Amino acid sequence: MTALFSSLNLRETSIPNRVMVSPMCQYSCEQRDGLATEWHRTHLGSRAVGGAGLVMSEATAVEPRGRISPEDLGIWSDEHAEALEPITEFIREQGSVPGIQLAHAGRKASTSRPWEDHGPVAPEDGGWTVVGPTDEPWPYDDEAPSTERLTPEDIESVVGSFRTAAERALAAGFEVAEVHAAHGYLIHEFLSPVTNTRGDAYGGGFEGRTRLAREVTAAVREVWPDDKPVFVRISATDWLPDRESWTVADSVRLADRLADLGADLIDVSAGGIHPESSPERAGPNYQVRYAERVREETDREVAVGAVGGITTPEQAEAVVANERADMAIVGREHLRDPYFTLRAAEALDATDEIEGPPQYRRAFGF
Ligand code: FNR
Repeated sequence: MTALFSSLNLRETSIPNRVMVSPMCQYSCEQRDGLATEWHRTHLGSRAVGGAGLVMSEATAVEPRGRISPEDLGIWSDEHAEALEPITEFIREQGSVPGIQLAHAGRKASTSRPWEDHGPVAPEDGGWTVVGPTDEPWPYDDEAPSTERLTPEDIESVVGSFRTAAERALAAGFEVAEVHAAHGYLIHEFLSPVTNTRGDAYGGGFEGRTRLAREVTAAVREVWPDDKPVFVRISATDWLPDRESWTVADSVRLADRLADLGADLIDVSAGGIHPESSPERAGPNYQVRYAERVREETDREVAVGAVGGITTPEQAEAVVANERADMAIVGREHLRDPYFTLRAAEALDATDEIEGPPQYRRAFGF
């Protein structure tokens, strides 16, 4: 028996294997309305056909100004939920678990797509005024967009948007809700002392800076059913050792607090808070040791996911078998190969441990 093809049971939800498709923005709402398109259906559907135990949607904005680009997915109306429903249904039909990453891009919102230079989009070109913990903009090379500091009342409204988005995600058929608190987007901007210099209840020390993350997690947990898991993706470190910044020790402390609020899995990524934040190390498993540390050092019952540079079946199996993490989260390799999990079953001699689509049986031998 392999570790990778054992199920992971979180609350009453059984994830059939330990491979998760990492959330990956597709920038493909061509109408700029946040509504899922045929691209999303095919993209997410193929990865479910490919056998991943959990297919996580891309960062899905809880309000229009929370989109990274105007072409991002959103879930700020019932119409958005309805557009996602056939996708979750198809993912479930494949025996996979549909998850949604609920997101707000904060001061890194309103940018063009990566293949269109990823620079700020001005309001007159379909962009918008972005928001953050302070009015300091992301340090763009060129002219920075106007950035507004959120007031406590605005923050309450953002927390409410996450709550309503979770309700809609549930109606759309998702079984896992993931709060995006990583990569320099809004919640991470509040967590990190690099970006959060507020003097009020949402700034200052650890309690203040983690307040938004805790309030959002609690709000999502409040409306997400008791039998279904909530994940939180964090950046374990800001990768800025030469200045006061968010550290792995902070992440362990936060993981404890989030677990107390009912988070079931901490999805451990890193970086994104500042242009100078860059990986200490690249290549295979480049972030796995942060997941391992959170898993080892938290004293709560909380699962941990590892992401970053996991590209081979053997690596994924080793991450889980060596108890470095409970899930192997695979991003770019899933862009190269939607059938990563089916291929992993073959490579690990585990085709009898996976259901697999009968339509593809003659190719894969399960
Ligand atoms: C990403 N990543 C990402 N992360 C996230 O939390 N939400 C998102 O919507 C996106 N979007 C996204 C789009 C694309 C095209 C890529 C390549 C990446 C980061 C991704 O989930 C993952 O954490 C990293 O790619 C590292 O994992 P891999 O690719 O080394 O397995």
